[in-house]
Amino acid sequence: MSRNPRGFADCSWLREAFLDVPREHFVPDKVWWPAPGEDGRYPLIDRAEKPWAWLKAAYRPGAALITQIDDGAVSATGPAKGAFTSSISSPGVIVELIRHLDPEPGDSILEIGTGTGYTTALLVCRSGSAKVITVEIDAGLAARARACLRALGMDPHVVTGDGERGHADGAPYDRILSTASVRQVPAAWLRQLRPGGVLVAPLDSPFGCDLMVRFVGDGRGRAVGIPVAQVEFMRVRSQRVPRSYEELGWPAQVNSMPWTGLRIAADATGQRVTAGAALGGACGWQGRV
Ligand SMILES: C[S@@+](CC[C@H](N)C(=O)[O-])C[C@H]1O[C@@H](n2cnc3c(N)ncnc32)[C@H](O)[C@@H]1O
Repeated sequence: MSRNPRGFADCSWLREAFLDVPREHFVPDKVWWPAPGEDGRYPLIDRAEKPWAWLKAAYRPGAALITQIDDGAVSATGPAKGAFTSSISSPGVIVELIRHLDPEPGDSILEIGTGTGYTTALLVCRSGSAKVITVEIDAGLAARARACLRALGMDPHVVTGDGERGHADGAPYDRILSTASVRQVPAAWLRQLRPGGVLVAPLDSPFGCDLMVRFVGDGRGRAVGIPVAQVEFMRVRSQRVPRSYEELGWPAQVNSMPWTGLRIAADATGQRVTAGAALGGACGWQGRV
């Protein structure tokens, strides 16, 4: 649930980008549907066998399609069990992420978690290939995304590496977007954000979901943010192991409070979540933290 779900409202460039970029171009021919069947396994949707079902699934507004299970240990030959490790994010969630990222034309953008490259393509529509850098930890996924983007005439810098380190070569960035969730905001992202730059990232929370948080950085390694939506994302690889919420800066019994009123401050020493900060406008996010 989003704090201010508005679809494409006030974001006509994003609507245009959705119309311009063919999502199906980025969807692998075989993907898993994210809800298990009666046998507990995730059904495979094979384009060759069911082209219409595959296409409909690709455009379902609320559906992420699973493109990798168990870091690639499971091959896409049939229904499968295991942990989701890559996907093409759902259209609805991508709209929310990018709407809150709110990039201006020509902004320098760092994306973490390239996946299929579909979100990257939408960012390229706004900023141009030369201004977008995307980091994917899985070399095979990075290569496939690079090829898909090039086939559409897009040539952002697709880096194979650990996105938790950001990408210092292109810093500082106007915008940083993570499409993998974190338990703790990596210090590199905060350091690599320009003063007033925006970071949007899904953050693990004690609410039984991730919170999509929109941070504004001070350019000196500190950022303050508010949650703007409840989402579910795959974790960045090195933060898969659970940690205590207390250690991660969450106050006790926070889940008896409304998630919409939280404020998250993060720097190299860690993060602190406090309650009672009504920082967003009633009609959508307008201001700076
Ligand atoms: C939810 S998927 C991204 C989907 C992408 N937005 C799309 O629509 O195609 C998350 C991705 O983050 C990647 N990932 C996980 N940990 C990472 C890390 N430390 N650095 C870079 N990428 C990482 C995963 O391999 C996966 O491809």
